[in-house]
Amino acid sequence: MLDGKKTLFSGMQATGNLTLGNYLGALKNWVSISDEYNCFYSVVDLHSITVRQDPATLRKRARTLLTLYIAAGLDPVKNCIYYQSHVSAHAELAWILDCFTYMGELSRMTQFKDKAAKHADNINAGLFTYPVLMAADILLYQADVVPVGIDQMQHLEITRDIAQRFNSVYGEVFTIPEAYIGKVGAKIMSLQDPSKKMSKSDENPNGSIYLMDDKDTIMRKCKRAVTDSVSVIRYTDEQPGLKNLIDIYSACTGRKPDEVVKEFDGRGYGDFKMAVGAAVAQILVPLQIEQARLAADKAYVDGIIKENAEKASYYAGKTLRKVQKKIGFPERVR
Ligand code: TRP
Repeated sequence: MLDGKKTLFSGMQATGNLTLGNYLGALKNWVSISDEYNCFYSVVDLHSITVRQDPATLRKRARTLLTLYIAAGLDPVKNCIYYQSHVSAHAELAWILDCFTYMGELSRMTQFKDKAAKHADNINAGLFTYPVLMAADILLYQADVVPVGIDQMQHLEITRDIAQRFNSVYGEVFTIPEAYIGKVGAKIMSLQDPSKKMSKSDENPNGSIYLMDDKDTIMRKCKRAVTDSVSVIRYTDEQPGLKNLIDIYSACTGRKPDEVVKEFDGRGYGDFKMAVGAAVAQILVPLQIEQARLAADKAYVDGIIKENAEKASYYAGKTLRKVQKKIGFPERVR
């Protein structure tokens, strides 16, 4: 791009209630690196319908997520924050890339296998081609870097394979994206089962702290968090519940785990859990206040949505037209 910065693309789905894990593991990180790149942050609503969604809920959650991006500190003028469904090039490029992707590759995707097992009554073709849509997202903006969690690495790999395959036929059309490596976000585990990632889709609501939980709920969930009977505050894999709480405290306060251990040396788990709850609330409550303020400012948010959809469409359209031309689709008559 013109200013010499590299381009970054990432997206999140507006399905389920976002958790503290989504914030500390992804969103917070996006904010900290956003100045270094030209960033596109999408609310990937096309991806969401691979699983049945209630229309009103989907619409509401998508808007909440978009305002959360802004509330978390992503400047919507410097960063392109938009709904995937507002830029038709995503679906168009996805179709083209479908024709450059093999069934065999897609059947190896572990997320497909997991989701197919979970939604056995609705194993639709979209669920299968989900990674191709993701490839289209990334390649449309010629992204150099993509911050993704470990669970999405396989999808980034297939994106690179598809892009290379296309380039080998048509020349250098797509930038080959890299995973963003650098300061990775904290990996937050369930408060009830520290061997599992904190998840939006956890059936046990006490396992996750939701971004919209109020202070009392946050405190209660921290208080009930599963620990161990060692009763000594240490940062070790042998005490996974406690380790997770230390990670949370550390991510919320910016202090390193060993400093946290020192700070709470000799104190009980009860005390520490209250401190974790307070630290989490100190991060989430202001985020909620800012999100509510934005939600109330409909005209402002609508303006952002409109401008950014246009901006995204402009860049995506450039790539799409180039691809169409390379493939041999007839030129438009003006
Ligand atoms: N599949 C990603 C997830 O569920 C979301 C996503 C869609 C994404 N398109 C993307 C992430 C492009 C990074 C880049 O987390």
